[in-house]
Amino acid sequence: MEFHPLEKKENLFEGYKSVFQVGEISLLLIQHNAKTALIENRCGHFGYELESGKIETDTIVCSQHGISFSLITGEIANRPYENADPIRIFDIVCQDGFLGVVL
Ligand code: FES
Repeated sequence: MEFHPLEKKENLFEGYKSVFQVGEISLLLIQHNAKTALIENRCGHFGYELESGKIETDTIVCSQHGISFSLITGEIANRPYENADPIRIFDIVCQDGFLGVVL
């Protein structure tokens, strides 16, 4: 397990959304409603990239088929289809002014 710095804390702003690759995992860092979230950039339905998803109050809506996932728990917030799983949420670690993840 090691710390992977992703972004300087000072670079975040309301509406920030950026993708980072750590090993084989694509991560999406989001700042919305003054909250920061780090999620896997992969929909729990057919694996579509979530970076193009619309962010609503504490959720992200996949642009492919409209399933919405909680940015806090990763759970499915609406369920238009049965065959979907929650998305992965990662703890954000701050080290030396950088936000990152331990993987
Ligand atoms: S791939 Fe995301 S809702 Fe279907």
